[in-house]
Amino acid sequence: MEMYSRVVGTGRALPGQPVSNAALVDRLAKSGIETSDAWIRERTGISQRYIAAEGVSSSDLAAEAAQHALHAAGLSAAQLEMIIVATSTPDMIFPSTACLVQKKIGASGGPAFDVQAVCSGFAYAMATADLFIKSGKVRNALVVGAEVFSGILDWTDRGTCVLFGDGAGAVVLTADQQPGVLGHRLHARGEFENILRTPGSVSHGKATGHPFLTMDGQSVFKLAVQVLDSVAREVLADVGDQVSDIDWLIPHQANVRILSATAKRLGIDESKVIVTVDQHANTSAASVPLALDVAVRDGRIQPGQRLMLQGVGGGFTWGAVYLRY
Ligand code: UT7
Repeated sequence: MEMYSRVVGTGRALPGQPVSNAALVDRLAKSGIETSDAWIRERTGISQRYIAAEGVSSSDLAAEAAQHALHAAGLSAAQLEMIIVATSTPDMIFPSTACLVQKKIGASGGPAFDVQAVCSGFAYAMATADLFIKSGKVRNALVVGAEVFSGILDWTDRGTCVLFGDGAGAVVLTADQQPGVLGHRLHARGEFENILRTPGSVSHGKATGHPFLTMDGQSVFKLAVQVLDSVAREVLADVGDQVSDIDWLIPHQANVRILSATAKRLGIDESKVIVTVDQHANTSAASVPLALDVAVRDGRIQPGQRLMLQGVGGGFTWGAVYLRY
């Protein structure tokens, strides 16, 4: 009998209070960086973001989001058989953030590991967990996207520092004879590694190089719009569905203009696109599960509906997970 993985709980965590564009503009002005609420809003659609206080780490946010997802699923941490955390801002080089989450939520025994695919990380992690569940190896899996991107931003580069935020989103997946995850596709093209990167590295145990994010925004923008369209069509073709079967499109939340352009290329009404980039800014691997949890909890997403989750970002990587909620 065919086995599927099904989302049975979602959760999120956002650190502290939101930082409005106006507050960020004031803060940056103190160090001579000129920007404006109007530019940020018009070019990106962002109106606020959350920034973690000193000492708050990705595993803290991931653990909080995980607790909410477990509660929604009606499962205890002890019932989890696998934990995957998608992050590009792990607490430390090792152990993995997933191991730290396992300890914080009191789960034990099963495999726990991180997936590093930047803003596509959640799609990569979901696809991985799905394959473990489908194969019959695992019944209950926790998949988290968690980031403290504020720690890798160059706060003197106005072209990037206004775009990102911190947060975590989590889902609990469980084995079921009913779908569930219907399909997924993952991609990477390493030849574009230089358009979005944090080129710090570890050499003989020491961090060296430039530890802050750099981005060629326009190149990323153009590629993102192309691949979000193509990967959705690939997954639909695999499953035998049409664009019109998608109830909710949940793309990576980087820029409202990318979301609009993707909806237009796919021929999906913008009212079917979940948008949280205005509230959370770009939270990299956390953006899709954050958006998912918002729309589940506000009642827009209903059981039986078909969701297209999509990631795109550094690597260059991209992917989509299509599921029946
Ligand atoms: O998460 C991974 C995926 N990431 C993305 O998908 C990001 C994709 N890229 C984008 O979203 C957009 O390219 C950006 C929002 C990053 C930039 O928007 P843009 O329309 O491509 O602007 P631009 O980079 O061409 O800059 C336009 C102008 C420049 O001034 P000049 O050269 O025209 O005089 C910039 O210096 O805007 C200026 N600028 C700013 N002005 C005020 C750049 N950043 C700022 C700022 N405030 N924060």
